[in-house]
Amino acid sequence: MRDYPENELPYIKFKDVSFSYPGERENLIFKCNFTIKKHGFWMVVGKNGSGKSTLLKLINGIINPKNGFIQSNANIGMVFQNPDHQILMPNCRSELLININKNLSQKEINKKIEYVLDQVGMTGFEKRPIHTLSGGQKQRLTIASALIGNKNFILLDEPTALLDQTSQLKVLQTIKNLTSDHKKPLLALWITHRYEELTYADAVAELKNGFLSSWQEPSKFQYN
Ligand SMILES: Nc1ncnc2c1ncn2[C@@H]1O[C@H](COP(=O)(O)OP(=O)(O)OP(=O)(O)O)[C@@H](O)[C@H]1O
Ligand SMILES: [Mg+2]
Repeated sequence: MRDYPENELPYIKFKDVSFSYPGERENLIFKCNFTIKKHGFWMVVGKNGSGKSTLLKLINGIINPKNGFIQSNANIGMVFQNPDHQILMPNCRSELLININKNLSQKEINKKIEYVLDQVGMTGFEKRPIHTLSGGQKQRLTIASALIGNKNFILLDEPTALLDQTSQLKVLQTIKNLTSDHKKPLLALWITHRYEELTYADAVAELKNGFLSSWQEPSKFQYN
């Protein structure tokens, strides 16, 4: 895991980024340019197969651009669609422990666990076995794992796709609270194909036919 200065603001910059999977002639992402250098709740919307997950893989460096370049100083955390593919341990505390800085004292560790569970609205869940959590609670635990691992930029790939509406709204509200926190606001990029989620965002862009539109306020966002 890369260390980063506590007070340095995370940013990501795409400059003329194009990408196609091996064997594919057509670019899935074409000359993509954008910069995010401010905390907040950013959303990218796009239809199935438009390349949303590929965009996230480019951001977190799992794949590299064919052309153009990407710059970032962020310490990136991921939240996937299915938390069962991500959570490894049998209870909340042990799951958080595998993501924490091991040099902390026992007292500091306990304090941090309490703090991040509180931040995602799961106060008192420390000893809860994972199999007793709802889908939405599991998603909020994966967000807590990113927070306890000092991630300052969280990428969420359709995190509510498997949730009912009540859980969906709780996860949306959790990210909304974290990204608008007065003391240490988070940077989050949320991928969705559910247009009703866009109202939670500070800025929205659409990925379509390989192009990412400019960022717009959700109230002014028009999709084609
Ligand atoms: N590893 C890969 N090798 C080849 N093609 C791939 C690979 N991963 C994805 N693709 C193709 O790239 C296109 C975009 O996939 P991607 O998963 O980025 O879309 P998406 O917008 O996230 O879709 P969804 O809404 O279904 O999650 C699809 O046509 C997919 O089949
Ligand atoms: Mg996807």
